[in-house]
Amino acid sequence: MDFTSQSAAAGAASRVVADALLVLLVGRTVPVGLDEPLARAVDAATRGGDLRLENGKAAYLHRVDGVKASRVAVAVASEDSAKALKTAAVAGLALLKATGVAHLAVKVAGISALQAAHAEAVAAAVGEAAYLYRATKPSAPPAPALHKVTVLCHSKDEARRVDEGLARGAAIVKGTTLARELANLPGNHCTPSHLAAEARRLGRKYSLKVEVLERKAIEKLGMGSFLAVAQGSAEPPRFIVMHYEGAGRKQPPTVLVGKGITFDSGGISLKPGEAMDEMKFDMGGAASVLGTMCTVAELEPRVNLIGIIAATENMPGGRAVKPGDVVKSLSGQTIEILNTDAEGRLILCDALTYAERFKPAAVVDIATLTGACVIALGGVRTGMFANDDALAAQLQAAGDAALDPCWRMPVDEEYDEALKSNFADMANIGGRPAGAITAAMFLKRFTKKLCWAHLDIAGTAWKTGPAKGATGRPVGLLTHFVLARAR
Ligand code: BES
Ligand code: MN
Ligand code: ZN
Repeated sequence: MDFTSQSAAAGAASRVVADALLVLLVGRTVPVGLDEPLARAVDAATRGGDLRLENGKAAYLHRVDGVKASRVAVAVASEDSAKALKTAAVAGLALLKATGVAHLAVKVAGISALQAAHAEAVAAAVGEAAYLYRATKPSAPPAPALHKVTVLCHSKDEARRVDEGLARGAAIVKGTTLARELANLPGNHCTPSHLAAEARRLGRKYSLKVEVLERKAIEKLGMGSFLAVAQGSAEPPRFIVMHYEGAGRKQPPTVLVGKGITFDSGGISLKPGEAMDEMKFDMGGAASVLGTMCTVAELEPRVNLIGIIAATENMPGGRAVKPGDVVKSLSGQTIEILNTDAEGRLILCDALTYAERFKPAAVVDIATLTGACVIALGGVRTGMFANDDALAAQLQAAGDAALDPCWRMPVDEEYDEALKSNFADMANIGGRPAGAITAAMFLKRFTKKLCWAHLDIAGTAWKTGPAKGATGRPVGLLTHFVLARAR
C-alpha cells in the first residue's frame, strides 16, 4: 500500500482525481474548508438526515455534481483527536469497502493543520479496512483493490508532517497485517516450523540475524519447562531469536518475547470443546513480535531490538506432561505443573531467562496468557504488568500514542503466595482469584535480573463472534515503544 500526501489548494477536494474521496469532518458542525460542490453536498446530507454530526457517523454520496471522484464517503469525527479521526475513517471506509476503490483520496475538514498523528491514524484505519483473509479460503472475494492513498494537504509544512505520519502508519500497517495473517492461519498451517520460516523470511528481506534452535539445542540449553509443554506434540518445537541492529554494539538492546503456542488444546488438562478452535490464536504474542520486527526493520530507527519466540503446540498424548509433574526450568527453579493448560507461562519463563544473556535495557513479553485478563479488561485494553515504573509509563504512553492502549495491573508481593507448592519451588497456577495477576507473578519470579514488563493480550489479540479474527495488536503499541527508545 502506497501512502502519500498531495498538496492541493485549500478546499480543492472536488477537483481531486481518484476513484473515491473520503471526507472526514471534524467537529459537531459542518466545517469550513470544503469547496463549493462538496460543501453543498455535505450540507444537503446533514440537513436531509442522511448524515448526523456525531462521532463515527458516515454517509455515502454517489456522483456528486461538480466532484471529480465518482464515489464520496463523508464521515464525522466529533473532536480534533487522532482517535476520533480514526473512528471516522473506519466508518467511512466501511461504506467504500465493496466498491473496488484502487486509489483513495482523503480530505480532512475542520482541522487547521494536520499533525503526524492524524495521518498515522488515517493510515491505521485504511490498513484495518483493507485487510481480507484469503490464505485458506478460495471462495473469498478477490483481495481489495486499494493500493494508493493520498491525503490532501495545503502547505509544505503540513505535507511534511503528514508524510512522516503516513510513513510510520504504513510500516505499522505492514507489521500489523503480518501479525493478523499469521494469527489467522489455522494451526495445521501455522506450526512452530512455519513461524521459524517466517522469521527467516523476514531475516532475508531486511538482513536481520535470525537463529532457530531445534529440540536438541533446546534440550542442551536446559529449557525443561518449555520442553515439558512441547513433549506432548508430534509437531517439533522451535526457539526463534531475531536481531535488528540499528544502533552501536554498545547500546543494550530492547528484547521482545512472544508466546508462540500454535495450538493450545490445554494438554492433559484438556479444554472444553466449545470455541477450542480459537486456540489457534494462542501464538498472537509471537505474531506481534514478528510484526514488530518487520515494522521496525522498515522504519530503521537507531535502536537495537531482539525478538524471541518460544513456539510449540500444547497437546495431550501418551508422552504429554501430566498434572503433578515437576520440571526444572532454565533458571534452575523447579515447577510443579498442576494444570497443563497454564502452559504459556511455562514456555515464557525459559525464554525470559534466555533473554538475560543479552544484558537488555528492557524486556517485554507479549502473550495471550489468561482468560482472566479477558474478564478483567475485555477487548479494549491490553493488560500490562511491570517490575519497573518508568517502563510501565513508557508502555502506557506508547499504547496511547498508537491508539493501541494498555492498562497497568498490580504485581504486589502478596499475590505471590498463591504459587506455593509442596513439591517444587513453585506451582504453575494460583487458583481462580486474580488469575491474570498470579500468571504475571509466576513470570516475575524469572525476571529478578531484568527491567521487565508483561503484556497479556488474551482479550485484545483477536475478536470472537461473527467478526472472528486476529487484530494484529499490539504491533502499534510495541512499535511506538521501540521508536521512543531510539536515539
Ligand atoms: N491460552 C490460554 C489463555 C486464553 C484463554 C486466552 C481464553 C484467550 C482466551 C492459556 O494458555 C490458558 O489456558 N490459561 C488458563 C490458565 C489457568 C489454567 C490457570 C486460563 O486462563 O484458563
Ligand atoms: Mn492454556
Ligand atoms: Zn495458551
